[in-house]
Amino acid sequence: MIQPAISDADLRDCNTLHLPARAARLQPVDDAADLPALTDDLQRRGEPLLVLGGGSNIVFGADFPGTVLHMRTRGIELLVRSGDSVTVAVAAGEPWHDWVACALARGWHGLENLALIPGTVGAAPVQNIGAYGVELIDHLDHVVAWDTADRRWLRLSAADCRAGYRDSIFKNELAGRAIITRVAFRLTTRPEVRCDYADLRRELAARGIAEPTPQDVFDAVCAVRRAKLPDPAVLGNAGSFFRNPVLPAAAAAQLLEAHPDAPHYPAADGSIKFAAAWLIDQCGWKGIRRGDAGVHERQALVLVNHGNASAADLLGLAADIQASVRRRFGVALEPEPLILGR
Ligand code: EPU
Repeated sequence: MIQPAISDADLRDCNTLHLPARAARLQPVDDAADLPALTDDLQRRGEPLLVLGGGSNIVFGADFPGTVLHMRTRGIELLVRSGDSVTVAVAAGEPWHDWVACALARGWHGLENLALIPGTVGAAPVQNIGAYGVELIDHLDHVVAWDTADRRWLRLSAADCRAGYRDSIFKNELAGRAIITRVAFRLTTRPEVRCDYADLRRELAARGIAEPTPQDVFDAVCAVRRAKLPDPAVLGNAGSFFRNPVLPAAAAAQLLEAHPDAPHYPAADGSIKFAAAWLIDQCGWKGIRRGDAGVHERQALVLVNHGNASAADLLGLAADIQASVRRRFGVALEPEPLILGR
């Protein structure tokens, strides 16, 4: 049964930055099969539509004048087991970290490095979440979505999702029209670990672990994240506020000539990815607080709401950070979360 919508809904607890905002209607979705009827009705009434999972990658810059669909669907289903490989479908509304912990407990490996990322399973393919050397796309089998524009169900293979660094088809061609309802993962029952990422290697060494199990990697990732990243339940934030800038080879060489110590990593086709956190840190922003908007004291890439910051406070701070990084390094930082109402 479709739950009734809430009118003039308070969204403060529906976004991890805890920004004050309201939606004309908040519609819970507990069954993906209800989506065609729900979205047809909204389209008939010409009402703007926003799909919300955990609200961990969104900045409410204004009230939302339409209906927010709050995805709350649950369910984990083993689709195929073949040799060491399993394909598992997960409902969009499942909390991401709970799914990672469940997969580990079932002996389905591959997602350990992505532990503790806030948000829901359905949001994960949109920005192709990634951390500690692993990206969602490395373990994606397919995505099921309802296309509100063509009124049909889509089944996108991993290749169809055109995943890139914090990017996918859902941020491009399918933006504003596809509602992800299920994500299927390809995992392995053979313990397999990836721990090349410097922070992770250091944490495992500090624990005296030379041959880590998947559980060790999961525990180490949780420890590193807890040490560096604020818990949104305690201090409002949306994770990294900017993407790490990817520069073409020539521009990268110029930047490295002037700043040889800038942390950087090779990216696709000869381009180079720089650490935005380092650029921001060098400009002196880490730990800065302006009213209730601030820059986290242990990760310069994370903007925080100390309590009653408004979207304007936060976006003003973000703009000043961008301007100073542009002045000092000639690099344009792009915001990572979706910013509404600008
Ligand atoms: N650094 C600084 N100052 C800081 C923080 C970091 O100089 O305040 C330097 C570090 O010394 C390091 C470099 O910047 O050399 C990179 O830092 P880190 O390893 O912490 O990773 P990041 O590039 O800042 C990215 C992701 C995170 C993800 C981590 C780990 C993006 C936008 N962010 O951060 O993802 O957890 O790597 O893989 O790609 C998120 O997207 O919300 C997120 C938290």
